[in-house]
Amino acid sequence: MMSKKIEEIAAAMVTPGKGILAADESSGTIKKRFDSINVDSTEDNRRDYRQMLFTSRSAMRKHISGVILFDETIRQKAANGKNLVDIIGAAGSIPGIKVDTGAKEFAGHPGEKVTEGLDGLRERLKEYHRLGARFAKWRAVIDIAEGLPTWGCIKANAHALARYAALCQEQRIVPIVEPEVLMDGPVASHNINRCAKVTEWVLNTVFAELYEARVRLEGMVLKPNMVIAGKNARTKAKPEQVAEQTVRCLKATVPASVPGIAFLSGGQSDIEATHHLSLMNAMGPFPWNLTFSYGRALQAAALKTWAGKPDNVAKAQEAFAHRAHMNGLATKGKWSKASEKRAA
Ligand code: 13P
Repeated sequence: MMSKKIEEIAAAMVTPGKGILAADESSGTIKKRFDSINVDSTEDNRRDYRQMLFTSRSAMRKHISGVILFDETIRQKAANGKNLVDIIGAAGSIPGIKVDTGAKEFAGHPGEKVTEGLDGLRERLKEYHRLGARFAKWRAVIDIAEGLPTWGCIKANAHALARYAALCQEQRIVPIVEPEVLMDGPVASHNINRCAKVTEWVLNTVFAELYEARVRLEGMVLKPNMVIAGKNARTKAKPEQVAEQTVRCLKATVPASVPGIAFLSGGQSDIEATHHLSLMNAMGPFPWNLTFSYGRALQAAALKTWAGKPDNVAKAQEAFAHRAHMNGLATKGKWSKASEKRAA
């Protein structure tokens, strides 16, 4: 893998049938996930949980093209002394790393955030490359609320994403560019049309900034939200509307030279996230591959089944393999409710 070009790595990340496992929950987020199953968020428990996922042989081999890790995990060893990074690589999957240092309150912009982490990023990328990472992730968050988002917030976040992406490519690391328009806004008027407008505005701004930063679009992966109604919206959109509006928005904003688009799940249920992806792929072909880079929608069932108990590892791996398989079908537009039953 050492000599692979970033274009080849980007293409491998979005191979049809496969997608990315987002296992890069920050310390705060993984604690929330563990709280939901009454497990303490200790270093060993985090290691055991992630080791369970990465040693799911069939899921990893067949359906997981890459894994996004957190700083702690890229340095961690499995219980048998092997590096977790090597376990991922041995399964034919590519290790990646979250490199932003979080979305922080944006000065002068009440209710909005800007993602930090550019200072010293070149040196950190060098180290991550040595540790085995071949792609990276940076997540910007855009809130929809009364009077939000502001242009200032979109512009600042898009600029940071572009500077990050350029630095990654300089270090032969594929940037996952993730501008997330959040689903969980407070306003009832946050319907699918509002999400479509904001997502289009954000993606247009991001690609303008990527161009100015001289980022090679062939060597990146876009990780957007789907175009979907907010959690508190008065009206929920049908799956077909989500698929149609998302594809329309991407066609209007994402250049054809981008090899792939790997969606985040953003708070959708497992089945919703799979269903939406499958409907979209059934509408293809497109100039880019459409796949998944899910956190919650890939892990929820496995996390619950595991519940912190070594005896549950095999069953939790089955749950993870099932979800990965369903999403693998969705990358080909071949998932249906019946596939859930057949596989179960
Ligand atoms: P979710 O799929 O849970 O939204 O997580 C994906 C991710 O990596 C967010 O940055």
